Formats: sequence, C-alpha cells, structure tokens
Amino acid sequence: MKYQRIALIGGSGFVGGHLTHHLRNNGYQCRVLTRRAFRHSALRLSAEVREVDPYMPLELAAALEGCDAAINLVGVLHAGPKGQDFRSAHVRLTENVVEACHQVGVRRLLHMSALHADQAMGSSEYLRSKGEGENRAHTLGKPDIAVTSFRPSVIFGPGDSFLNRFAALLKIPGPMPLACWDTRFSPVYVGDVVAAFTRALPDRKTFGRRYDLCGPETFTLEEIVRLVALHTGRHKGVIHLPDWAARLQAQVLQYVPGKPFTPDNYLSLQTDSVCSDNGLDNFGISGTSMKALLPELLSKAGS
Ligand SMILES: NC(=O)c1ccc[n+]([C@@H]2O[C@H](COP(=O)([O-])OP(=O)(O)OC[C@H]3O[C@@H](n4cnc5c(N)ncnc54)[C@H](OP(=O)(O)O)[C@@H]3O)[C@@H](O)[C@H]2O)c1
Repeated sequence: MKYQRIALIGGSGFVGGHLTHHLRNNGYQCRVLTRRAFRHSALRLSAEVREVDPYMPLELAAALEGCDAAINLVGVLHAGPKGQDFRSAHVRLTENVVEACHQVGVRRLLHMSALHADQAMGSSEYLRSKGEGENRAHTLGKPDIAVTSFRPSVIFGPGDSFLNRFAALLKIPGPMPLACWDTRFSPVYVGDVVAAFTRALPDRKTFGRRYDLCGPETFTLEEIVRLVALHTGRHKGVIHLPDWAARLQAQVLQYVPGKPFTPDNYLSLQTDSVCSDNGLDNFGISGTSMKALLPELLSKAGS
C-alpha cells in the first residue's frame, strides 16, 4: 500500500513544519490540520492547511477524508489547572484521531510520544498522559490501523524552543540559577526525527512498534547551558539550585507569562532523557551531533 496523501494533526509546530517540508520534498501531498489556519500561512507553500477543531470527532473525520495516512504531533508542555489540558491534548485527542481514522478508512498512523512516556506514579503529568495517549493509539488502532510511535528525547534544530529558550534566558543579567542542572539529555536533531518518520511510513516492519529516539551525545543540562553561552558569547555564572530551591523556582515561575518552568517540568526533569535502545539505528540514521551544529543554530541567537 502506498501512503501518498498525509494529514498532519498538530503539524503547524516546530516538528510539524520540518516534517511537512521534508515530506513535500519527497513527493508526498500534505494536509496540515490546525486550530488556527491564519497563523500558519507560510505552511501553504508546502501543504494544504485546514482549520479544524480536533476535539470535534465529526469535524476531524471530515478533515482526514481522502488521506492515506495520519501523523499525530499534538503535544502541550504546560497544562492549565488540574492537568486537564495534558489529558485532553494527549489522550482524548489521540482517541479522536484513531476513531476518525477508523471512520474514513485511514489505515496508517504515526504517533508522536515522548521519551519515558509512561503511566508510572510519580512521573510528570506530561509524561503520564503522553504514555497513556501512546497506549491508546496502539490499542484502539487494532486491528485495522497500522500504528508506529516515536519517543524522542529533547529535539533540537532551527526554530526549536529548547536551545533558543536558554539563549533567551542567558540575556537576563546576573548569574543563572539552574534547577536540575545534572539531569542528562541526549538531544536528537529534528532532521533525524523527520527522517525516521519518513522511513517508517511505508515500512511494514515498523507497524505496531514504538521507537525511542536519541542523538549520539549525552550532556547534563548545565553542559548544554554552557555550550549555548559559549556560542552566543554570553558567559555567566551558573548557580546549582538545591532540590528545595528548584521546587520553589518551579512554583514561582509557573505564574510568569510563558511559564518558563513549572512543577510538572520539574517532575519531568527527575528522569534522565537518555535512550538504552536508540530507535534511530533501526532506520539506518547515525544521528547528528548537536555540538557540531550549535555554531550554525545559534549564530542569530547571539545578537
Ligand atoms: N520539541 C521537543 O523537544 C519534543 C521532545 C519530545 C517529544 N515531543 C513531542 O513532539 C510533538 C511535536 O512537538 P513540537 O515541539 O513540534 O510542538 P509544538 O511546536 O508546540 O507544536 C505542537 C502542535 O500541537 C498543536 N497543539 C498545541 N496545543 C494543543 C492543544 N491543547 N490541543 C490541540 N492541539 C494543540 C498546535 O497546533 P495548532 O495550534 O496549529 O492547532 C501545535 O502546532 C509533541 O507531541 C511533543 O510532545 C517534542
């Protein structure tokens, strides 16, 4: 079966923009589903952009009509009170996507999860709800939808909100108080994530599988901040916050516009974001070095 016409739910964001562009360049027809089409006019160069409320099952099914495959990229990092945004975006919406695929005969679904997404007690609501959504995609999709899911560590690349956020925070005068400074990450390049999605799409061996995705290097959070400082020319002291101060920082910063750090982010950072079995190997992708790309990625962030 050829999967030629692809619908991307949540395809208007950082990963979605890169993936849409890559798919278009490889001959696929893309339809990006977004809640607010007017914000994404640049995407019209690579895709049909359709406004849809993904929480309305009939509307979503109509938007998937005529597509051969769907890719669900919806994710929220910060929830409203009581975590309801996490559950609705990661679990309820995933259920809607699978149900809509069933209704209109879309037989292939790629699902974006996150590394260490699981339902274990004590983990963050972000990770728990991502894990629950991932499981729903696989179980509800059976037997007639071939589902593959991806669980990346933090993703870097042009337009990311990871390196660019630290570049922005380094502009604030004075030393940087850093929570969870020793948590380890294996950042994965957005181009490698996009390549893994594209290679998995037609590949029957990936049906029903879940892949952790990591880059080739591992850094502590502090090492990443120091690398960003080096390449933006903003050298400054880093204060290692003790655990009690990290929790307090999260309590305070959750009320700052843009929510730079929340108690749920703090909980996510209690687990190292590194892979024991890197799924990129399954796709013959060797993994791009973040260190090597940093000068190029941060050349504009320094100004
Ligand atoms: N970036 C990373 O480092 C990273 C790491 C691991 C996993 N992931 C996962 O990868 C996926 C894509 O990440 P990204 O960085 O591209 O995210 P992003 O830039 O924030 O894009 C996510 C998209 O989801 C849609 N969305 C956001 N909140 C929503 C809500 N409450 N209800 C419905 N739709 C909503 C938005 O589309 P519209 O506003 O246009 O509707 C947005 O364009 C997410 O599932 C994320 O959890 C990302």
